[in-house]
Amino acid sequence: MKKIDWTKIRNQFPAVKKYVYLNAASTSPIPKIVAHEGKLFYDEILENGEKAWDRWADKITETRENAAQLLNASPKEITFIHNTGHGLNIAAEILKDKPGEVLTMEDEYPTSTIPWIHRNRRVRFVQPVRNTYSIDQIEKYISKDTKILVTSHIQYSTGFKQDLNELGKLCKKHNLIYIVNATQSGGIFPVDVKKANIDFLVFAGYKWTLSGFGNGVLYINKKWLKPKAFPLVGSESVKDWEAMDNKNFTIRNDAAVLEIGAPNFAPIIALGSALKYLANIGQRNIQERIFSLNDYLVGEISCLKDVRITTPLDKKWRSGITLIKVPNPKRIQEQLVKRKILVSCRRKQIRISLHIYNNKDDIHKFVRALMKLLVVR
Ligand SMILES: Cc1ncc(COP(=O)(O)O)c(C=O)c1O
Repeated sequence: MKKIDWTKIRNQFPAVKKYVYLNAASTSPIPKIVAHEGKLFYDEILENGEKAWDRWADKITETRENAAQLLNASPKEITFIHNTGHGLNIAAEILKDKPGEVLTMEDEYPTSTIPWIHRNRRVRFVQPVRNTYSIDQIEKYISKDTKILVTSHIQYSTGFKQDLNELGKLCKKHNLIYIVNATQSGGIFPVDVKKANIDFLVFAGYKWTLSGFGNGVLYINKKWLKPKAFPLVGSESVKDWEAMDNKNFTIRNDAAVLEIGAPNFAPIIALGSALKYLANIGQRNIQERIFSLNDYLVGEISCLKDVRITTPLDKKWRSGITLIKVPNPKRIQEQLVKRKILVSCRRKQIRISLHIYNNKDDIHKFVRALMKLLVVR
C-alpha cells in the first residue's frame, strides 16, 4: 500500500484551516483540485462560450466510467443526478407498476422514504436493536407482500454501516428489489453492486465524495433499463439526436437517457475530479485513515463524564460517523459552532464526522471544547 502524506492532503482543503471541520456527514469542503476544475469550466465558457464542449463532454464520459468502476457497474448503468432524492424518485417511478410493500429502516433519512409514501406505497419500518439492523432482524419483517427493500448503506443519525453483501443475499432469497442510499458512504466505502445484487444505488456528492453540490450518481441495474419505463426523456435520450426529429425517434436503453437535455457540465466535472482525487489516494487508505481517526476520537471521549457514545462500535458496523449523547446537545452544538468547531445535532445528539482532511489536533480541540462546555451548563 502506498504511503500517504496526510498533511499534504489536508493542505488541499483551505476550509479546515479556518474551522475544526467535523461535519462531513452534513457537507464536506471540497479540495483545491476540484474547485480548480469547476472554475476552469466557468473560465472557458466566460471566454469562449461553448467552444470547449468536446473537452467537457469527454470529462462526462470519463466521470461515468470512473463512477462505474467505483461500483463495479457498467457505464451504461450510470446516470448523473442532482441529489439523493432525485435518484430515489427516479427509482420509484421506474418501479411504479410493480405492486408490493416497501420495507425500510426506522431511522432512514427522510428522502429514502418520502418518494414511496408520496406514491401511496405501503411502507413498513424495521425497528433497530441497539442502533443496528442485523440481517436476522430485517428478515423478521419480510412478508409475502414485501417486494422492495430500501436501506441506507450508512445511517445518518447513528453511523451504523450495513453489510450490503449479506443484505443482498437476503433480498435474493426473498426476491426483493434492492435499493441502496449510499450518500453517507459514496466514494469512500467500497460497494460492489454486482456482488451485492443491488438493483438501484444512489449517492450525492456533497458529503463524503468531496464534490460539492448538484451532483451525484444513480446506478440502475441493466435489468431495469427499459425505454418504456424511463420516467424522463428528452432530445438527448434518443438514438440519433442529430436527426432532430420531433416525431419519430427511438429511446436508447442506457441509464444516461435520464440526463434528458443539455449536460449539467460543471457539477459533473467537479464530481469527476473528486472521484479521481479519491481513487488516487485509494479506498483502503481512505478507510484506514477514517477508522483510525474515529478510533482515536472514541478513545478520547469514552471516559468523559456525561458523554455516551450511541454509534455501534463493532468494526463491521463502523463508518465515519460518531454520535454522542450529551446533556443539552443543541446548546453544546451551537456553542461549538461559535468556537468554529463544526458538528451537527441529529436526533438530540451530537454527530461528529471525520474525513481524510481531519487530524488528531482537530479531535483534541473538539474534546477540550466539549469538556469545558459540559462543565458550564
Ligand atoms: C442518508 C442520507 N441520504 C440523503 C441525504 C440528503 O439527501 P439529498 O441529497 O436529496 O439532499 C442525507 C443528508 O443528510 C443523508 O444523510
